[in-house]
Order: sequence, then C-alpha cells, then structure tokens
Amino acid sequence: MNLPIRPRRNRKSPAMRSLVCETVLGPSDFVQPLFVQEGDQNDPIASMPGITRWGEKNLIAEVLSIHASGVPAVVLFPKIAESLKSSDAAACFDDSGLIPRLVRAIKAACPEICVITDVALDPYSSDGHDGLVQTAGDGSLRILNDETVEILCRQALCHARAGADVVSPSDMMDGRVAALRHALDGSGFADVSILSYSVKYASALYGPFRGALDSAPKAGDKKTYQMNPANAREALREALLDQAEGADMLMVKPAGAYLDVIALVRGSTHLPVAAYQVSGEYLMIQSAAAAGWLDRKAVILESLTAIKRAGADFILTYFAKEAALWVRE
Ligand code: PBG
Repeated sequence: MNLPIRPRRNRKSPAMRSLVCETVLGPSDFVQPLFVQEGDQNDPIASMPGITRWGEKNLIAEVLSIHASGVPAVVLFPKIAESLKSSDAAACFDDSGLIPRLVRAIKAACPEICVITDVALDPYSSDGHDGLVQTAGDGSLRILNDETVEILCRQALCHARAGADVVSPSDMMDGRVAALRHALDGSGFADVSILSYSVKYASALYGPFRGALDSAPKAGDKKTYQMNPANAREALREALLDQAEGADMLMVKPAGAYLDVIALVRGSTHLPVAAYQVSGEYLMIQSAAAAGWLDRKAVILESLTAIKRAGADFILTYFAKEAALWVRE
C-alpha cells in the first residue's frame, strides 16, 4: 500500500509508546474512601467484598499505610448505630461523635494527609435520606431543602472544629455550597475547603455503599435531589452554580458511565474536577475478577486511566492505595 501516514509508527516500541502517552496515573491522582465504625473491631463488608469497615483503633494504621503509598487524601464514611439515628439526624453535628473523634485522631497521627469529610444526613437519618423528610397524608415524601441546609452547616462546622481539611457535601440540596461557605467563614474556618458533589446522579451503582453503611432509604428514592442519568446539560447548570457559590472543587459521580459528563464539566470550569468511581463500579470489576473473567489489575488501571483522560484531576476510588502502589515509580 502507498500509505504516507501510518499511525502505528508511534506505537512501534514501549519507548515510543511512552513518549506519546497522553495520560499518566500517579499516586496523587487518588483519594481513598474509608468506611468506619465505633469500637475497636474491624468488619468485612458483605455488600463490598474486599473492603473493610475500620474500627477506631485500626483506622490509624490504615491511614498511615495509605499515606505511605503516596495517596494524598482520605474521605470518611461512618456506619452509625441504629440507636443513634433520628429523623432530625442530630447526631451528625455531635462534637464527640465518631467522625469528629476520628478526624482529630487522624490529624494527630498523620497531619500531612488531607482529611475529607462527607456532609450529608443519610448515615444519621432514621429515614435513610440525605435530607430531612416530611411525610404527607397520602404517604408521599418531601425532602425539605432549606431546613436540611441548616443542619448540613452545623455538620460541616462540627467537622471543621475537629480539623477536617475539606468538607464534601454529597446531599445535592440547592444552595448548600453558599450556605456552607458562609457558615465556615463566619466561624473562623476560611481555610476549610469545599469539594462539592456538584453532579451526582440518582444511580443504581450506589447500592453496595448503602449496604456498607446500612443507609438505604427506608421509603422512596433519591430522585428529587440526585440527578436523572439521562441529563448532561443539567450537569453544567449544577456545576456552574456550585462554582458561583464558592466551591473549591467540583465532583462528578459516578465516574465510568459518565465520562462524557466529566469531559463536559472539565471544559466549562477552571476549578479542579474530581470523579468518584463508586461502589457499584468497584463491585463490577471486583466480582468479574473474582470469577476469573477479567484481568483485575489491567481493568482497574484502564478504568482509572479512562476517568483521568476524560478530564478528572483526581479520582475517589476504592482501589486508591492498591493502584498507587502499582503506578508509583
Ligand atoms: C450519601 C453518599 C452515597 C455515596 C457517597 N455518599 C450514597 C447515596 O447517595 O445514596 C455513594 C458512594 C458509592 O456508591 O461508592 N450521601
């Protein structure tokens, strides 16, 4: 063939391929989500094989090992005892609660690691919703926006007092980023950052996570606050609003099935963009690999590379520590 242009020339050797490589993963691309619980015991998580829910004592050793792997940040998700849950989720701003205790312990043991806390009511809500629930006479649910935002502010202040570096609202209430910024600044926490779950879809891929925390909604679904997976223009509306309200970083969630949305948000803001490879994405890879159907390491690295290539500056992933050890030089 008379072919002056042969793209394969750029792929002819490992050296050539590395020269023209556009996307390189490093340990600092990852954030490690950690499930935590009261007491000294660790437990395996039935809905997420391979993931541990850490007791208070052992969490610190795990955080130190994450830090040693080069992963710069962790995000904490608490399993709260049923007896501490309530319809007003008031345990979420208890300064002696599990999360503030653990934030203080982590910052004392490993001050260099960035501690991100989740701001939302679902682990503390007896209704299992991210906001306050009002039930109408006919049994239908309303999630109360403005009343919820007041509690989210108290929760974020509680995390800031404990020493959180970043608070991360995952609730999808309207106006919460501006309210959190105002509350933090008004209480002397101008340095605490906000990583907003700006574009969070009502995804079936969160199922295993809700199993890990016993936090599934008791009734109804989350479709009046989380977004319809069919929508992309609406993602820009949410992202640009959060930017205007003062978010420091924006997040798209889930990640793998929403690469177009990550790319769209990336192209519309100068803020850092995060993506969350969620529990269902973890489980699809983990279970297929366990059955011997996929090459686990290759698929994990391919999935993370694709999320970064789409435009994510960093990725929340259950594979964080493991992948960091694979990709560091
Ligand atoms: C709750 C929250 C969820 C996740 C992170 N924060 C679940 C939900 O919205 O129901 C999901 C993470 C995952 O699936 O890995 N505010």
